[in-house]
Amino acid sequence: MTSPWPLESVWEKAEPLLPGLTVELLPSIDSTNSELMRRARNGQHDPVLLVAEQQTAGRGRLGREWRSDPTASLTFSLGLVLAPRDWWGLSLAVGVAIAGALHPDVHLKWPNDLWVGDAKLGGILIETAPAADRQARYAIVGVGLNIRPRAAEGLSTPPAWVQQLRPELDAGAALLAIVPALAATLNRFQAEGFGSFQHAFARRDALKGREVRLSDGRTGVAQGVDGQGALLVHTAAGPVAITSSEVSVRPA
Ligand code: BTN
Repeated sequence: MTSPWPLESVWEKAEPLLPGLTVELLPSIDSTNSELMRRARNGQHDPVLLVAEQQTAGRGRLGREWRSDPTASLTFSLGLVLAPRDWWGLSLAVGVAIAGALHPDVHLKWPNDLWVGDAKLGGILIETAPAADRQARYAIVGVGLNIRPRAAEGLSTPPAWVQQLRPELDAGAALLAIVPALAATLNRFQAEGFGSFQHAFARRDALKGREVRLSDGRTGVAQGVDGQGALLVHTAAGPVAITSSEVSVRPA
């Protein structure tokens, strides 16, 4: 039997960091990101953690589909108003928070993947909507993680799962480990930007020193990320800093 979701405990730990936070569990929804985006467009800008047991149209980066298995995955989105001076590197800081809450062997593949070895443990999809205050945006931080083994068919990268590293964690326990760390990270990101996460990212950088191929055809050796979260790649034509979230990168 799966244990009940520890939503009360998640709320108790995260609400002091995100005052007014509500925590909601939905048995099924198209996508937790899409649902929070609809609510934001209707003027609902309060902090909310939306957890779905099943997503019927989960979305990944670059318009890709995110397929999850209700018995094997954790899918949630955290929506909140943020007003950082600079948004660069937010997905990297979120990755640092999630990896830190899970295990030292979780690495981060720029800009939004969590990897164990060369297998994908999960991904992050951040979207924003206008907020009442023009200096701020409503940020929707969507996270999808494999908790138990899942089928690899149709995936461009083979899957890893949390229980390989932490057999005792089910989806609820992983949520409880991650959300308070994520809330603290979002507050810190708003105050300090990506710069204060740069070293922590570097320790978990899955690409550093590796041959990479960019989706625009260029190849080179990844050299880490700069203080703005740009991926530095040494190509035949010289060093380049990749900031575009439209560029995807793979080990060559
Ligand atoms: C990626 O790997 O490209 C990002 C995947 C993000 C998936 C999560 S699951 C919860 C939230 N809702 C979505 O539709 N997507 C994100």
